[in-house]
Amino acid sequence: MDPIELYRHSSVNETGPAGDRKMTTSQQVDHTIFGGTAAENYERYFVPVIPAPLAANLIETAVPRPGEHVLDVACGTGVLTRLAAQRVSTAGRVVGVDLTRGMLDVARSIPAPPGASIEWREGNAEGLPLPDESFDLVLCHLGLMFVTDRSAAVREMRRVLSCGGRAARPARTAGRSCRATCSPNGRIMWITAGSSTTSLW
Ligand SMILES: C[S@@+](CC[C@H](N)C(=O)[O-])C[C@H]1O[C@@H](n2cnc3c(N)ncnc32)[C@H](O)[C@@H]1O
Repeated sequence: MDPIELYRHSSVNETGPAGDRKMTTSQQVDHTIFGGTAAENYERYFVPVIPAPLAANLIETAVPRPGEHVLDVACGTGVLTRLAAQRVSTAGRVVGVDLTRGMLDVARSIPAPPGASIEWREGNAEGLPLPDESFDLVLCHLGLMFVTDRSAAVREMRRVLSCGGRAARPARTAGRSCRATCSPNGRIMWITAGSSTTSLW
């Protein structure tokens, strides 16, 4: 099975947080053929091929700075979260939120890099379990497309961003990333890598 197929199947049979949601499809897959849980297989086989190189690209666009507070929404097994922790250093704060407990279990099992310690939180992007205006940078990597109510998730990302804070996500074009800045009037401007600027909120 190729890595993309593997990820598609790895969404099957994972229990959501706090028992509030269960991802299911009609297709049941026996993950034992890969020798691990769906989340373990995601980390082992899929992350090195697709998320890791894309996360490296996104972190270059987002530019987390030492001391900043960074949130990674739909963090999965934490490939991007760990990069952010290294960038903000011990003076910063990094939180990774994900809906799926199994993904967070794998994230917690991976040795932390030098830098900020990471808080792994179970939660839904549509209702982030975090206070208003508490982050300088919000990241969302290969996550928004899986969220049912994406508008609610984007509103939540805006809510937890501090005034002047930034948000970043991959662009639709493969291998590119977008950074956004939240202005004092509450609008967020997506800045597509290198060129045009569009207002999202
Ligand atoms: C393709 S993985 C990406 C994980 C990680 N960001 C990465 O780059 O490897 C998608 C993740 O979105 C999470 N997810 C899906 N819906 C979510 C929601 N409503 N709230 C939070 N996380 C969600 C899944 O549990 C899964 O870990």
